[in-house]
This record gives sequence, C-alpha cells and structure tokens, in this order.
Amino acid sequence: MTTSNQQTFQPGNPALPDVELLNRWANELFRAAPNSTADSGTPASAASHNPSVAVSPHEREIVSGKSLQTQGFTPLKPDLKERLKESVGGAPASAAPKTGSEFLDTKQSLPKQPGAGLPSTDELKLLLGPRFNSPLTAPASFGQTATYYFFDEATHQGKAITQTSLGDTHPPFDVNAVRRDFPILNERVNGRPLIWFDNAATTQKPQAVIDRLSEFYQHENSNIHRAAHELAARATDAYEKARQTVADFLNAGSVNEIVFVRGSTEAINLVAQSYGRQHIGVGDEIVISWLEHHANIVPWQQLCQETGAVLRVIPVDDSGQVILSEYKKLLNAKTKLLAFTHVSNALGTITPAQEMIAMAQAVGAKVLLDAAQSVSHLPVDVQALNCDWLVFSGHKIFGPTGIGVLYGKEELLNTMQPWQGGGNMIEDVTFEHTVYQPSPARFEAGTGNIADAVGLGAALDYLSRLGIDNVARYEHELLVYAIDALQGIPGIKLIGTAADKTSVLSFVLKGHSTEDVGKALNQAGIAVRSGHHCAQPILRRFGVESTVRPSLAFYNTYEEIDCLVTALIRLQANHVGLFLK
Ligand code: ALA
Repeated sequence: MTTSNQQTFQPGNPALPDVELLNRWANELFRAAPNSTADSGTPASAASHNPSVAVSPHEREIVSGKSLQTQGFTPLKPDLKERLKESVGGAPASAAPKTGSEFLDTKQSLPKQPGAGLPSTDELKLLLGPRFNSPLTAPASFGQTATYYFFDEATHQGKAITQTSLGDTHPPFDVNAVRRDFPILNERVNGRPLIWFDNAATTQKPQAVIDRLSEFYQHENSNIHRAAHELAARATDAYEKARQTVADFLNAGSVNEIVFVRGSTEAINLVAQSYGRQHIGVGDEIVISWLEHHANIVPWQQLCQETGAVLRVIPVDDSGQVILSEYKKLLNAKTKLLAFTHVSNALGTITPAQEMIAMAQAVGAKVLLDAAQSVSHLPVDVQALNCDWLVFSGHKIFGPTGIGVLYGKEELLNTMQPWQGGGNMIEDVTFEHTVYQPSPARFEAGTGNIADAVGLGAALDYLSRLGIDNVARYEHELLVYAIDALQGIPGIKLIGTAADKTSVLSFVLKGHSTEDVGKALNQAGIAVRSGHHCAQPILRRFGVESTVRPSLAFYNTYEEIDCLVTALIRLQANHVGLFLK
C-alpha cells in the first residue's frame, strides 16, 4: 500500500460506502441477481463445489478483513481489508504511478505471515494442527482425501525425502528476493504492477537466463560439432553442457537420453512418427487420458488414422482425476503405448504417474509422460518414474521459447528410426545408403536451437539453486491459499478440484464470459489465460467450453492472490451495479 493510495481513500466520503455496508448490499443483490448465464451441463458433483450465489461467509470475511483461518489453512493477510478499501475506493491508476521497486518495497514491508516464506515444521504443525501427522487432506470442499505428494516418502535424485526431513532441512524461500531475479515482474500494465498468473502458458525468465543468452551471442556463437575453430568449441561445449544439465535435472542415466527439440509438441510428434510408425499397427491400442492437451491427442489420432490403431481414453472423475479402476480395464495385450500428462494444463491435476506407468508396462506397453506442466512445479525423476519417454518445453520452465526436451531410455532411442533426415544426424552417407548416429544426434537433424538450449541449461541451473522441493512446498501453500480464497467469491465455480493438484486455478464466474473476466483482470494488471487452453475434451467433460485460468509459479505471492480475489469481487459487484466505477 502506498502513501498516495492511503490518501486517496476517504472513509467518510459518502461516494465510497463502508465495506460492511457494501457487504450487506452484496448479500442482498447477489441473492436477487437475475438468472445468470453460467455454464450449464456441469455434473452435479462438480456443481456442489460451487458456493451459493449469495456472498459466502468466507467472502464476508474477505470483505470485512477479519482474520480467516478456514479449515486450518493459511490465514488471509490482516491488511487485506485495507487493500480492498483501496480497490473499492478506486484509487485512480494515474494518481500514484508506482515504480517496480516501490512495488517490491511495498511487498517487503508487509508483515511476515506463516507461508509468506516457506513454513517450517513447527509452523506446519501450527497451521495443520492434528492433521500434521495424519494424512494431509485437501480443503474439505474437495472431493477426495489424498496425501500431498511432497509429504509422501519420496526420493528425488537418489535422496530420500521424508515429511520431517523436508520441514527441518529446507532453506527459507524468500519470494521477494526471487522476484528481483525476474526483471519483467517490474513491468506495469494499465498503470498497475504486472501480476503474472499465466505461467501454464509460459513462464517468465530470470536475469540469469537473459544474461546467458546474451553471453552466448557475444562470446560463443557458432555452429556446433563441425569446426576446429575456437568459437565452435565454445558453442559445442555450452550446448553439450546444457544437455548434461538437463540429464542431471531429470536424473537421467546418460546424456545420450536427452534429445533437444523445439518443445513438448515436437517431442510427442517425434515419438509418434518414429516409434509409432515402426511398432504400432492395425488393431493395436494407444491409451491417453481425458486430461490431455491437444498436443498429446492429435499426434496419436493421426497415427491411428495412418495405421489402423485404436485410441482409448482414460476417464476422469468429477474432481478431474483419472479413474484408475477404469484405466485398468483399458489395458490389455493390444495396448502398445500409453501417453498421458503428469499435470493437467487445464485443471492442474497431478496424475498418479508412477502407478500408471507401472500398470501399462505390466501389459508390455511403452509409456510417454508429458511433463510440460510438471517439471517446473514438482521433482521429476525419470528413473524413479521409469517412463520410456518424457517430454517438456523450455519456455514453461523459465527458459527460452523454441527449445524443449525429449527424454528416452537410451536403448529404446537407439532402436527408433530417425524422424527427420539431414546433417548432424548421420555417421556416413552415400547415394545408396545412410548410417545414422546413435541418440541423441540421430534425432537432431540440421542446426538446432543452440543458444536456447544453453539458455534452458541456465534456467534449470537457476531452478536447481532454488531447489525444486522448496518450490513445490511454497507453491503448494500458495495454491491452497488461492483455492480457499477463490472459493469464497460469489458465483465462482472452480473447474478441477482433484486432491492432488498444482499451480492451476481454472474457474468460471457466473454472469461473465471467460473472455470478459480475462479483460477485466488485464485492466487490473493481472495476466491470466481465458479460453480452452488447447484442452477442449477435458473442459467439455466439465460442461464448459472455456475457463479463466490463473496459474502460479514460485515468484507469485499471497498479495497477488489477494489482488486477484479483490478484482473478481469487484467485477461481480460491478455486475449487479453495486460498486462505483
Ligand atoms: N500449453 C499452453 C497452455 O496451457 C500453451 O496455455
């Protein structure tokens, strides 16, 4: 909160009603709101997550600024009332142009709350009470009970992670320090500090990545693998070092298992066109899940059309989680390949990947895991998962666009026919015959995206320095806080309420098209994606054609979530003519 904003708000001004009064009006008006145009066809169980159109007790607490400790999770910030007043008071955007550093200072001056940094074991005990030692559950309004993934006994890169060891050993997560690494977070949009909640579409880049790209072009730029000169050596070293970084990040057994591609889409197409055309034929079955991004549907559809194979789809329950019992029924001797997402880009569901992979492999199928939406949020260990292939995109993990990764088991990659032919991927060429290089070169025809591969390496180094386990913990707290706060907004319906989820907060808002919500949020400087998110089947499963999709990353803050909630409450209030412009 800036001084100038405080001066703009005048509680005594009759044009700016008292927040308690606004709350009462909101109750009355929302109850009396005309039939809104909310989406129809939603399964009843999904609809049951939707709070009444009337202002909920939660929202009342938001508006009145009372301390909120719903379900024992992180309380709202005590200064929310003040910030809501600012928002409701409509401090003109032009009145107090803030610089980026003021924005950071403002945040730094906020009182430290449990969860503003990373909670310690003691803080978690305090927050979760008796649940700390029992299986942790998602908010009670969610359909299932599940332990949170990062509290399960787990391993990452050979290191055991246990409930207590995480709490005791993790370094503090200072989100304000992290934010200073991302220059774009100082941008202003429509006179407001940018709030980047479009991380599922693409992530922002730390200065370390920007600098690394610049350094490459200033000191190393050359084609690779092909010349005796100094710059070729520098560029080749940088590119191959990035491959090693990716291998380490995924805990791959060898750098030869890491193929650089343009992105997840290209990686999936590569497997479909290479392995798929080699091994899949008439009557064979390919299994995908209902959660898939179009990039993990269309290439398999195309392959089925070409080969006469059949596409089978694993259904999801009303929370948006795959139904394992139904999945099991789909598996049989004809199942040749399972391709599914680790985290849904539209709902945020974390699938039980390890279990699903093992089930498919038990019937002899190969498995491709789409990790585009998981690698930036959770530890991903290809050896622990035992997937045959895994794909992800650089730009969704704080790296450049146009670079991505196909991981594949080395032996398998070396039996796969190259997808594209050209330079770099060959050992010997005559007019009669070509001998191909082993992996990874056999899949890297032509001059690749050298600089951006190097940039991706820098992004992974950056993330590893933060610690993916720390990121997972912080983001999880943030997500729980956001779900809790959003659920209190009148007319909101969250789409995707699986107990295990990360980052994504898809919703629809009664009375508003998703496009209009996106535009209204943009006016407040908040970037979200509105639309079908390239995942039409899963949205239709929930009776909607599009959602508003805020998606979180580790540089997002509790205060930004409060701004989102405030903007949505304000939008709803404007809808019924409650608030002033
Ligand atoms: N796949 C990206 C998204 O989910 C573009 O937004």
